Amino acid sequence: MSSSCSGLSRVLVAVATALVSVSSPCPQAWGPPGVQYGQLGRSVMLCCPGVTAGSPVSWFRDGEPRLLQGPDSGQVHQLVLSRADSTDEGIYICRTLDGAVGGTVTLRLGYPPARPVVSCQAADYENFSCTWSQGQVSSLPTRYLTSYRKKTLPGADDQRIHSATGPWLCPQEPPGAARCVVHGAEFWSQYRINVTEVNPLGASTRLLDVSLQSILRPDPPQGLQVEPIPGYPRRLHASWKYPASWPHQPHFLLKFRLQYRPVQHPVWSMVEPVGLEEVITDAIAGLPHIVQVSARDFLDAGTWSAWSPEAWGTPSTGPLPKEILAGGQPPDGDQPHSKPEVQMQAGNLAPPRLSLQPGPRPLDHRVPLEQVAMLMSLGILSFLGLAAGALVLGLWLRLRLGQKGGSANRGFLGPIITVDKRTTPNL
Ligand SMILES: *[C@@H]1O[C@H](CO)[C@@H](O)[C@H](O)[C@H]1NC(C)=O
Ligand SMILES: *[C@@H]1O[C@H](CO)[C@@H](O)[C@H](O)[C@H]1NC(C)=O
Repeated sequence: MSSSCSGLSRVLVAVATALVSVSSPCPQAWGPPGVQYGQLGRSVMLCCPGVTAGSPVSWFRDGEPRLLQGPDSGQVHQLVLSRADSTDEGIYICRTLDGAVGGTVTLRLGYPPARPVVSCQAADYENFSCTWSQGQVSSLPTRYLTSYRKKTLPGADDQRIHSATGPWLCPQEPPGAARCVVHGAEFWSQYRINVTEVNPLGASTRLLDVSLQSILRPDPPQGLQVEPIPGYPRRLHASWKYPASWPHQPHFLLKFRLQYRPVQHPVWSMVEPVGLEEVITDAIAGLPHIVQVSARDFLDAGTWSAWSPEAWGTPSTGPLPKEILAGGQPPDGDQPHSKPEVQMQAGNLAPPRLSLQPGPRPLDHRVPLEQVAMLMSLGILSFLGLAAGALVLGLWLRLRLGQKGGSANRGFLGPIITVDKRTTPNL
């Protein structure tokens, strides 16, 4: 009897103290049937399932004959454990007065939810996702209710806008993951995310204000390729693509930055290319180089993406390809910022223009054009010269005629006048 009394020492007998200290009466509707939950360190009340309220029952631990609480305890069909600790977890059995098993209860202990830790991220300009983790381990089955509303701007007509600002469900994708996604968000709007952690012992809400344009962080560019440029021992050609998660749209472009270094070298060099490719002109001949690229919204919203996976490339050590050498001159010694550089940059930005091939070839293509232009200008010049010559000749002739005209005019017009003179007197 004394041992049974010491065993019962943690079982509260007084109804009043029990009711005051118990956090929630008979938590249920969580997890598998027959499981009840309580908070570690607090008083826990177990309900005998399948017994009408008020029927007196006896309580036992499963497999132990020791009576925990008799039917005359005043608790009727409930068992009260004070300051529950982990040794109290397990299976309890309640029996009715006639000795029949009223029910079996499995007790699980843990903590009520703490406010979850929430962060949100956007890899494109229309959708964002929020992820969360427990602020404190509860050791209990947990659900999350996730919703969001659009924040009303200060000064806006709250009544009018209220209906259009939610809250809306933030669907959890994939189901069961600690992540929910807001689709079709407005780039410039503020949103208030509500992540409420719920477990059998309660609920706790975290609110987080986010705007797409501040959390925007694109995925790294994809398909980075680094290739040598034949004939140029200090050049590497790098090209990449938009991340697949960033639909290409004129209003939402990405800009890029490229970092590269020889494998043995600890320090990165960095450039900010304009397009989807770049020619590195100061690579170290013969050494493999590591190249990475990252992306950011063109107008600097959000932050830079993570660096893409490394791509490796080694500048070309071989001579110019035969077809280039066949053109005649050797390359220009690969000075950075030398003339072919300009041609190559232009070629890179607009591939249909002159080819990447360095050296005299592009010039070859231009020779006929220049010749045509030369011939044309020569033609025009000679035409002009001829015209001018003709003009001068004409003037000279006019002058000479004019000078001779004294006599010639007379000689020319004379007969008419003389005719006139002759005819007039005759009339
Ligand atoms: C936003 O998500 C939807 C649905 O997954 C997708 O169709 C759309 O392309 C996404 N928008 C952007 C800009 O990526
Ligand atoms: C957050 O969500 C929970 C669960 O849906 C809800 O009970 C609570 O009122 C919400 N809180 C706010 C501030 O919206």
